[in-house]
Amino acid sequence: MTAQTWPGRILQQLKGVNPFEGDCAPSRVSLFGPGRPAMPVPLPWNYKEPIKIFEAFYSEADREAGWGKHNRYLYAGGLPPVLVTRDPGIIKAIQSNTGDKPGQFDRDTSPTAGIARATGEDSLLYSNGSIWRRQKSMVAKPFSRSNLFQPQKFQGFEQTFRKTAMQRLEALRAAQKSSGKESTRVELDPEIKVVMLEMLVNNFFGGKASYDELRDRFIPALVYLIDHMIRDTVAPKAQAIARKLSGGEKILQIYKADFEKLTDIALSGRAEGLGLWNEFHSEAPDEALRSNIRVFLAGAMEATTSFASWAISHLSHHPEWQTKIYEEVKDMDVYDPDDFTKAPNLNHVLEETLRLTPSLYFFPRRATADTWVETSDKRTMMIPKGTHIRLDVWHSNRCEEFWGEDVTGYPADIFAPERWDSLKERGLSAKSMLHFGFGHGPRFCPGRSLGLLEVGLVVGALVKIFKFKAVHSETGPSAGVSTKPADGVMVDLRLRNNG
Ligand code: HEM
Repeated sequence: MTAQTWPGRILQQLKGVNPFEGDCAPSRVSLFGPGRPAMPVPLPWNYKEPIKIFEAFYSEADREAGWGKHNRYLYAGGLPPVLVTRDPGIIKAIQSNTGDKPGQFDRDTSPTAGIARATGEDSLLYSNGSIWRRQKSMVAKPFSRSNLFQPQKFQGFEQTFRKTAMQRLEALRAAQKSSGKESTRVELDPEIKVVMLEMLVNNFFGGKASYDELRDRFIPALVYLIDHMIRDTVAPKAQAIARKLSGGEKILQIYKADFEKLTDIALSGRAEGLGLWNEFHSEAPDEALRSNIRVFLAGAMEATTSFASWAISHLSHHPEWQTKIYEEVKDMDVYDPDDFTKAPNLNHVLEETLRLTPSLYFFPRRATADTWVETSDKRTMMIPKGTHIRLDVWHSNRCEEFWGEDVTGYPADIFAPERWDSLKERGLSAKSMLHFGFGHGPRFCPGRSLGLLEVGLVVGALVKIFKFKAVHSETGPSAGVSTKPADGVMVDLRLRNNG
């Protein structure tokens, strides 16, 4: 059990007391150690490499005989413990037990303080307890699969999304054709961002923002603000002083005003019942919806761009999978991401993308009481009250023990969409092999159906028109709010057919 006061914790820390209990209790990580990729805490000089910070938790973990190899804790500085876990059983148990009931885990708000200051504290993403429950029930229906995917509505959304994706790619196609060159080198990430935002603002929310305005005004504002949210979380005071001294405060206010304008545009369709608003039946005034809309705009653009960018980046290293997808989508009129029979290869590629390179690479939780959790294979862990928990899905999904050759037929750290066929042959499904790409349990992503549809359409449309090849032989991750291919998806594009 962890002490609840600073002196009590210091004493425990000096004595080396493990405040966790159970047969898969975590093992301790010290603050300093040789040969680590980073210190195991975010600091102003390492916060841009969060994946390395997590990696530091597993340094020398292989010396551990039991589950302490995958469950690690830091207990230092008189602060509450930090638990980092790549154990899928514990990740699932904690996710399932997150919610608003007494004793359940909260979402830990400390890594998202900057997001809350920019979007509002009462959003579905940030809030806990009864506010979260209220927000969830308000959002659940319009976003639900059963609503979005009702045949008539689905076709409506699918068609407008498809049109938007095709229009943008047609522009790229025309540019490529008129260049007269066989191939063009392009950084695709910026293009993907605009298409994703356009689908969200204009098709989903029924807003009216021109492509140029989205690209030249709103995307730069969102990119700046998302970066600001991270800096404002890690070192808020230092950042505020730096902005005052450099004149950055003025720029921040301009971008914040742009964000408000974009929120107005997304809300503007409400009165006429356009797009999603047709399904949204609530008396709540517009003002009460703004924090959620801001989170949807910034968060969904970020998450869908990350997902599509990774999928395209992986495909750019694997032309054989482009061909397989092309054969599936070349004559396809309607794409339903949950209909696995029509485009199994595209679906395997998307599943594998989320496994190997999850957009959200960790989920933060906090223990509101001393809490016992139990995994499906009956292992137990007592997590003391106040523990900051980081569910490290990035490293879990790349761990050979859970996703490697013995279990899936392919090494864990490579992109192998055929893994999903191999799993099926072994009697394992995506349900039994959770990669947590959209989370799990009560705080599961409400935007899954929408996101999958958007990403599937963009990836399918790109493959239909182009062949693309990675410029770099390897593409590493960069991570902030979400993960992205560090090279911005730099590819050489070639028209598939010259017509
Ligand atoms: C397709 C790309 C997307 C991915 C990979 C993704 C991933 C996730 C994940 C993993 C979580 C769970 C976080 C946790 O447990 O702490 C989550 C939650 C959430 N997502 Fe998504 N998401 C995507 C798209 C969207 C879209 C399109 C929207 C809305 C328009 C959205 C809105 C949200 C919200 C509001 C939450 C918080 C839910 C809650 O706490 O109850 N996401 N997302």
